[in-house]
Amino acid sequence: MQSTDSHQELFTPEFMQDPHTLQARLRQDAPAHEVISPNNLRMWVVSRYEDARAMLADPTVLKDSAKLREVMEANLVDQENRREFAVELSQHMLNSDGADHSRLRRLVTKAFTARRIEQMRPRVETITNELLDAVSPGQRVDLLDAFAFPLPITVISELLGVPDDEREDFRQWSNSLVGNGTPEEVQHAGEAMVAYLGRLIADKRANPADDMLTALVQATDDSDRLSPVELVSMAFLLLVAGHETTVNLIGNGTLALLNNPEQLAALRADRSLMPTAVDEFLRFDSPVNMSTFRFTTEPVELDGVTIPAGQVVLVGLGSANRDGDRFEHADQLDITRPVGGHLGFGHGIHYCLGAPLARLEAEIAFTGLLDRFPDMKLAVPVPELRWRNSILMHGLEELPVVL
Ligand code: HEM
Repeated sequence: MQSTDSHQELFTPEFMQDPHTLQARLRQDAPAHEVISPNNLRMWVVSRYEDARAMLADPTVLKDSAKLREVMEANLVDQENRREFAVELSQHMLNSDGADHSRLRRLVTKAFTARRIEQMRPRVETITNELLDAVSPGQRVDLLDAFAFPLPITVISELLGVPDDEREDFRQWSNSLVGNGTPEEVQHAGEAMVAYLGRLIADKRANPADDMLTALVQATDDSDRLSPVELVSMAFLLLVAGHETTVNLIGNGTLALLNNPEQLAALRADRSLMPTAVDEFLRFDSPVNMSTFRFTTEPVELDGVTIPAGQVVLVGLGSANRDGDRFEHADQLDITRPVGGHLGFGHGIHYCLGAPLARLEAEIAFTGLLDRFPDMKLAVPVPELRWRNSILMHGLEELPVVL
C-alpha cells in the first residue's frame, strides 16, 4: 500500500487470508486510504485506532440507507458487477441515524440488557451441552459446523421465535449477503430472504406467541411504531447478526488459544480469566473486521488526510484493535490484558446491541470446550486453514479439530 491518492485494490484474496499484515502496512502508511472494492465501489478505509474511534462517533458521518444508496451510486467506478441489496432488508437501526435510529433501537433494547440476557444462561448452557453431547473426545470434527454455528443460531432463533425448518437455507442466504456473492447470488439470496421473513411474520400474526418477533409484529400492527418494511428489516438484522458474528468469535478464539498453548493453559488453570479472555479474542482476531458502510456529509480531516464529503467509508475495527499505539504488544494474544477500549463491538450509537448475548454465549461455549476436551488440537496445519471471502466478516471457512 503506498500513496493515499491512488485508487487501489485492497480486498484481494491475499487480504482475505491475512488481513493483519496488510492492515499493519495501511496503519503505518497513512490514516486513510482510498480503495476500490471487488464490486467496483470507490471507498475510504480508516485503519488507526484513534481515527477509527473518532469516525464511529462523528455525528457528520452517517448511515441512512436511502442516502447511502445515492452516495454509492455516485462512487461506482463502473456499472459492471454492481450488486443491488434488497431495499426491503435495509431499513433497520444499523442503517439509520438520529431519531429513527433511537426509535428502532428502543423497540428491542430491553430484551438485550445485560440483566435480561443473564436470565438466558441456563438455556444457553443446555443448548451448549446438547451440542457437545453429540461429539466425543478424540473425534475429528469441523468445530464451526458441529458447534460454533449451531449454538448462536439456536439461541437467536429461540429468542425471536423462529422455527428451525428452514435454518439451513437461511444460513446460505445470509452467507451470500454478507460475503462477496456474485450479483446474481446476492439478488437471489435477498429475494429468498424477503419471502422467508414475510412467511415468518404472517405466521406470527396468525399464531402470536411469547417471543420477540410477535412483540415486534404487534408494535407494527397496534401502535404503528414500526412500519412493515422496518419490521422485515429488523427481523433480518437480528437474525443475520446472530448468524454471522458469534460463530467467528468462537472459531477465531479457539484458533487463537490453540496457537498459543501457554494462554490456553493459563485459561484452563484459572477460569475467572474467561470474561477478559473473551474480550481479548474480540480484540485479537475481531469477528467483524470492517464496520458496515458509512458516508461523509462534510470533509473529515485525519492527521493530514482529508476525506471529502460524499464518500463511502469503512472503519477498520480489526485494524484498530491491532494498533500498537493503543495496545501494547498488539499482535500478541494476552488473556490477562486489561479489558476495555477495543472496537470489536463497534463504538458510538451503533455499538453492538447483542454484545451481552455474544459475551454470554462465548463464555459458556469456551467453558464447555475446555471442560470436555482437555486435549483438543488442530487437525490440520495452520497454513491449510482458509478464511472466508468477506470484507466485513473475519472468520474461518472450517476449523478442523481433534477433540
Ligand atoms: C461476537 C459477536 C458479535 C460481534 C463481534 C458483533 C459486532 C458488531 C459491530 C462491530 C457492530 C457495529 C457495526 C457498525 O457500527 O458498523 C454491531 C452492531 C449490531 N449488532 Fe452485533 N455483534 C455480535 C453479535 C451480535 C448478536 C448476537 C446480536 C443479536 C441480535 C447483534 C446485534 C447487533 C445489532 C442489532 C447491531 C446494530 C446496532 C445499532 O445500529 O444501533 N450482534 N455488532
